[in-house]
Amino acid sequence: MTEMTEQAPVTQATATKVAALPDAQTVTSVQHYTDRLFAFRVTRPQSLRFRSGEFVMIGLMGDNGKPLLRAYSIASPSWDEELEFYSIKVPDGPLTSKLQHIQPGDEIILRPKPVGTLVHDALLPGKRIYFFSTGTGFAPFASLLRDPQTYEDYDEVIITHTCREVAELTYGRDLIESIRNDELLQELIGEENLAKLRYYPTTTREESPKMGRITTLIENGELFADLGVPPLNPEHDRAMICGSLAFNIDVKALLEQAGLREGANSEPKEFVVEKAFVGDGI
Ligand code: FAD
Ligand code: A2P
Repeated sequence: MTEMTEQAPVTQATATKVAALPDAQTVTSVQHYTDRLFAFRVTRPQSLRFRSGEFVMIGLMGDNGKPLLRAYSIASPSWDEELEFYSIKVPDGPLTSKLQHIQPGDEIILRPKPVGTLVHDALLPGKRIYFFSTGTGFAPFASLLRDPQTYEDYDEVIITHTCREVAELTYGRDLIESIRNDELLQELIGEENLAKLRYYPTTTREESPKMGRITTLIENGELFADLGVPPLNPEHDRAMICGSLAFNIDVKALLEQAGLREGANSEPKEFVVEKAFVGDGI
């Protein structure tokens, strides 16, 4: 009895608080991949327009009653009626220690102001596009890989994803499989266009069919030999990079060595870079 009277006001207070969330969106599904990775989908604000590859600020209400927001790449394509996110779980992370527990029906905060450099507009026309990613850096490419424009703009679309362990590749692997097998995606992108897609997953700390850092595989030429493509060339090749700061710096150096230049929304060139997260001490 005591329990019931104590519980009633709490439920009411929680409901009021949730309804009062600014920019609230409802979680529609959640999928956990490992103890460090999960993905979820939320409703999309009707007014939200974004370019595939951009990021927004999302979060939850903090214990202090203020929104606790972090940058997140939108992993779904711009035509999708929902929004998808692919997330790390940082055990003591202010946001993700809580966000990892969301369930369908819960609400998150989503500020509808998309920005970012990993967009087609920031690149000059080319023949082949490389998406280089590690960890959750795959997220913006999950969006771009489902965008028909990616295949209309290029003859070849190469996505590399490097993780420490095999299980960390699952979200990306499943996504590539769904792009190749999902009827809706096949219809949207076109079977001929889908033939342009090349997926190159590698691991560095657990045995898998292809092992090694992508930087090593670029330097020793294995990436190009495996794919049967010529070495990097500024005339035809374009690239987008998304991983840790150290990864971005090292890949960028290799691209620049090959003669590619970094572009931006305002000045399109041959490659663009975005951090997958901040704070690896560099
Ligand atoms: P924080 O205090 O933000 O981070 C604590 C520490 O955890 C960091 O110092 C870092 O060492 C580590 N860390 C944080 N994020 C990651 C990560 N993604 N992978 C590996 N280590 C990490 N995160 C995503 O999970 N998915 C995304 O799509 C995504 N997109 C981003 C886009 C941009 C432009 C930026 C700048 C960041 C992005 N992040 C993304 C990182 C995200 O903003 C948060 O850092 C992350 O959600 C953790 O939040 P937190 O409050 O729990 O911990
Ligand atoms: P490695 O296992 O050799 O460090 P992290 O979890 O540290 O962000 O790393 C994710 C993946 O990116 C790992 O496979 C890691 O390889 C790789 N990686 C980390 N830093 C670099 C870098 N500077 N250049 C290339 N690959 C990197």
